[in-house]
Order: sequence, then C-alpha cells, then structure tokens
Amino acid sequence: MSLDLLLGLQWGDEGKGKIVDAITSNYDIIARFQGGPNAGHTIEFDGNKHVLHTIPSGIFNKQSINVIGNGVVIDPGIFLKEIEGLNKYKIDLKKNLYISKRAHIILPTHKIIDATSEASKGKKKIGSTLKGIGPAYMDKTGRNGIRVGDIIDDSWQKKYNNLKEKHLKIISNFKESVDISLENLEIDFVQGIESLKTFNLIDSENYLNSCLNEGKKILAEGAQGSLLDIDFGTYPYVTSSNTTAAGACSGLGVPPNKIKKIIGIFKAYTTRVGSGPFPTELFNSIGEKIREIGHEYGATTGRDRRCGWLDLVALKYTVQINGVTELNIMKSDVLSSIDKLKICTSYMVDNKQVNNFPFDIKSKKIIPKYVEFEGWHEDITKVNCEDDLPKELINYINFIESFVEVPIKLISVGPDRIQTIYRNT
Ligand code: GDP
Ligand code: IMO
Ligand code: MG
Repeated sequence: MSLDLLLGLQWGDEGKGKIVDAITSNYDIIARFQGGPNAGHTIEFDGNKHVLHTIPSGIFNKQSINVIGNGVVIDPGIFLKEIEGLNKYKIDLKKNLYISKRAHIILPTHKIIDATSEASKGKKKIGSTLKGIGPAYMDKTGRNGIRVGDIIDDSWQKKYNNLKEKHLKIISNFKESVDISLENLEIDFVQGIESLKTFNLIDSENYLNSCLNEGKKILAEGAQGSLLDIDFGTYPYVTSSNTTAAGACSGLGVPPNKIKKIIGIFKAYTTRVGSGPFPTELFNSIGEKIREIGHEYGATTGRDRRCGWLDLVALKYTVQINGVTELNIMKSDVLSSIDKLKICTSYMVDNKQVNNFPFDIKSKKIIPKYVEFEGWHEDITKVNCEDDLPKELINYINFIESFVEVPIKLISVGPDRIQTIYRNT
C-alpha cells in the first residue's frame, strides 16, 4: 500500500502530464488533488497528442482508475468538452473516472469575475488563465461554494441562482466591464451539469483510503507548480490552491503518513506563463531559441511562455517545501545546440549574496549569479540509455543533483512517453 506524489517544482508546465502517463502502469489509481482547468497536461503516444485539463493523466491506461479529488475545482462545460475529446480513444469513462462529491464547481459568473477582476488590475494583472479559478476558491474558503454533490439535490437550482445573484452584484461594483456572454456560458454550463450527473460521483476520501487499506497503489497528480502555490509561491502572482505536497493530503483526504515517494519534476531550464517575478528570465535570442525549440506556448491559453535559465535557488526551496525524494529532469533535449549553458546558484540582492528564496522577490532587484557549463550539440531525442547521453549533459545533471542533494531518477528527452530514460541511481 502506498501513495506517491508527483509535483511540478517550478511555475507549472514542467511535463507532469507526460510523466504521469508514462508511469501510470505502476499504479492502480491516479488522483488529481487541486487546481482545475487552468491546468493543461500534454500527453503524447503512438502519434497522438492530447491535452487534459481536469481529467487525471492516467486516463489513457485503461487499467487504472482516475479520481478527481475534493481539492479540484470543476468547470462543467470544460469537463464535458474534455469527455467528448476523449471519445476517439474508446475509454470507458463511466468505469474509469470517479469524481469527488466535495469538489467545488466553477460557475459561469466565476469566470466573469475573474476576467473583470483582472481587467481592473491593469498592469498589475496576475495573468490568470481566466478560467474562474480564483473566484471559485474564494467561494470555497468563503463558505459560499457549490459542490459536485449538490447538483444531484433538488435544491441545486436555488443554490445556483442565489450564488449567481451574489456574483452579479460583485460584477456590477467593478468600474470595468468585460465582453463575455453569460447566456452562452450558461448554455455550456447546463449541458455540462447534466453530463456530470451521469458520472460516478463518490466520497473519494473513503474510496482512496479503502484502496490504500487493500494494498492498492495511488499516484497523486499535481497541477501547476510549487512557485504558483498560494502560500509559498511568488504571491500574489500565484494560483489559488496549495500546489505543494501538503495539498495532496487536504485535496484527497489521505493522511500524510501514507505518502511514500514524492517525485518532483523540473525542466532543465525555467519557464513561466503569466505575470510575476522570474529572476533568471532571458530577454535575448537564447530565450527565444528555447521557446521555439521547446514549443513553449501555453497548453491551456496558447500564450508565449517566458523562458530562462535553470534556477537552483528556487529549485532547492521547492524541493525542501515538498520533501522531494526523487527528481525527474525534463526537456534536456531542448538545450541541445546551445554553446554555453548557465545555472543560477545564488542571487545578489542589494549587493549581498542570498542563497534562500526571498520573501520579497518582486520589488527587490535580484541579480542571479550563474555557474557556466559547456553545452552539447548531439540530438538526444532518440537516446534510451544514460550511457549514450553526451558527457556535458551528464555533467549538467550531476551538478544539479549534488546541489539540491536529491537523486535525479528520470531524464526526459522528448514529449513522447517512450522518450524517457529511467536511471538506477
Ligand atoms: P504539464 O502542465 O506539467 O503537464 O506540462 P505541459 O503539457 O503544459 O507542457 C509541457 C510540454 O513539453 C508539452 O508540450 C509536452 O508535450 C512537452 N514535453 C514534455 N516532456 C518533454 C521533453 O522531455 N522534451 C520535449 N522536447 N518536450 C517535452
Ligand atoms: P499546469 O498544471 C502554468 C498561472 C497563470 C497565472 C497564474 C494564475 O499546466 O502546469 P489562474 O488561472 O490559476 O488564476 O492563474 O498561474 N497558471 C499556470 N501556469 N501551468 C499551469 O498549470 C498553470 N495554471 C495557472 O498563467 O500566471
Ligand atoms: Mg501545463
């Protein structure tokens, strides 16, 4: 019996979807524990490329059960589209997908509040995906939210109307207005709710705990990344949930003493989509090259991802907060053919060296200090054994490992599930 966690250690988009899919056959159950359709998890196999938003990335392995946990916020309209998008794979979703009755619902008006609130912030906008995530979690913690279990109750419509009225008052208080049709959103919403009702809506905390007691193996799939965590991320430029390890306990109802492995995923460089501080961001042709070769465009919004060097001050911080037991390095193939690579190992703030991730990362002028590495020029996307990797890449990896003091157990060299090198360190 065990529960393993898989988490992104940077600002999201580390490749969580790829790895969950690649290792799913080791687990009986894959469970998402936070976030919502702000996530875009890309999976590639057998010539297929698919982006999941709410549904866990174990769904393509027909043997595993996938659970949307209580910590997730669900947009019924997007959920329905996701279900329809999976039709061609002939997966029995009524059998393989369970949804927590305690998960909260994103209402159409949550999305309008999100967009209006962002518009009102002007240059200080968060760069939200505008999926209604912040407002939905605000209603959850404000004790106004509507949960999946509510939609099968007769009082559902009344609850919906009451909350919608509240939201419309909030929206009318903003000076700004946005051009979004509530009517159109509601059409998708109603269809989505009807579809959601036909799924297995369960007390997922009971289900998951009995699975653990029966000796089954669960993988908890994180969304976003640790630097977007509501408590430990670059606040206020964060998302509205706990993306770090503790979020898996509260977002699934599983106790911490059941957790075994904590797998932390990071890119060989860094990306960020949306606003907020990013000390190692590159504003030159190398940054553009990484974006182009790495296809660094948002899987949910299509926005350009900002690109920069790997930041080990930030990585060490997130490894510590999550208690990461093993690391996976992603997208090292993207760095092939860059002559000199850099890794940030400390910051200079007000002429002082800083080794810890600072509280006030946004206003202080942070100058990253780098160690330089020789690059490699070989195409590594077809390499399937560590011994065949260029020595410069091994050197790069060894440096990271010794700096953060956690073993790198997996090297990803391409987007396909088979482009994965497992290490026996
Ligand atoms: P997630 O949100 O963490 O699941 O990551 P995304 O799917 O948003 O972004 C990761 C992107 O990188 C996707 O387009 C993946 O297909 C792709 N990808 C994942 N691993 C690798 C890799 O090792 N090399 C390359 N070149 N692409 C990768
Ligand atoms: P996955 O799971 C990257 C970012 C947004 C914005 C901030 C707040 O694919 O890694 P929100 O919509 O939550 O209010 O946006 O967080 N963001 C992500 N960035 N990957 C994600 O998810 C993200 N989910 C949210 O761009 O800066
Ligand atoms: Mg993503």
